[in-house]
Amino acid sequence: MQKMEQLYEGKAKKVYATDDPELCIVDYKDDATAFNGAKKGTISGKGIINNCITNHLMKLLESKGIPTHLVEQLSDRETLVKRVQIIPLEVIVRNIAAGSLAKRLGLEEGHKMSRPVLEYCYKNDALDDPMVNDYHILAMQFATREELNTIADYAFKINEILTNYLSDLGIELIDFKLEFGKTADGQIVLADEISPDTCRFWDSKTGTKLDKDRFRRDMGGVEDAYQEIMKRLLGR
Ligand code: TMP
Ligand code: ASP
Repeated sequence: MQKMEQLYEGKAKKVYATDDPELCIVDYKDDATAFNGAKKGTISGKGIINNCITNHLMKLLESKGIPTHLVEQLSDRETLVKRVQIIPLEVIVRNIAAGSLAKRLGLEEGHKMSRPVLEYCYKNDALDDPMVNDYHILAMQFATREELNTIADYAFKINEILTNYLSDLGIELIDFKLEFGKTADGQIVLADEISPDTCRFWDSKTGTKLDKDRFRRDMGGVEDAYQEIMKRLLGR
């Protein structure tokens, strides 16, 4: 597999073409941003940890019937993935009120909800990723009705699988963000990453935050939190 030209550089990853038009290589960086890039920093070792955690969780999801873009991990920071057209949506699932939902509805962080909540945001940095609903998504043709049904169905299944898996490791899955892509033959697959950058993980016993909120909120202990999640999930 030949790594070729860089296709894209995002805030946390770079994407490269390969000599196979249906595959590309994702390269995870240690760069961290928050508030749409307004806050910048480095989380030492994050690229390696997020690459390993994402692949570990995507393998688990694949084994339970969720199609993902994962092909194989190539190195500490690099993974071979299917080349997809990203659906321009951040798909957020929430189990416990926190972050922007707690703020929007005037709830205390940690407020228990009677059922999970699904939200969509339009992926657009210039607009600060505004929240959209099914009607916006269909009207703007970000996805078809059928694709959106598939995405919602996968999102709730992923929530169930991850919540159960993490609960056994003493981690409460508060909320998380997913991105989906479309392969050349039109299949919807889970893409992007699932990591402490994109999930809220609280220690089940103590409630300690083990995710990027430690960076967003200047809480300290950022690297230790990422390492703790890596250790619980991968045993190293
Ligand atoms: P929020 O409460 O700030 O809306 O975040 C909800 C979840 O989405 C949380 O687990 C963090 C994740 N997230 C991202 O992955 N990327 C983002 O740009 C934002 C704002 C949140
Ligand atoms: N990834 C986002 C950014 O910097 C924000 C976040 O994760 O809080 O734009």
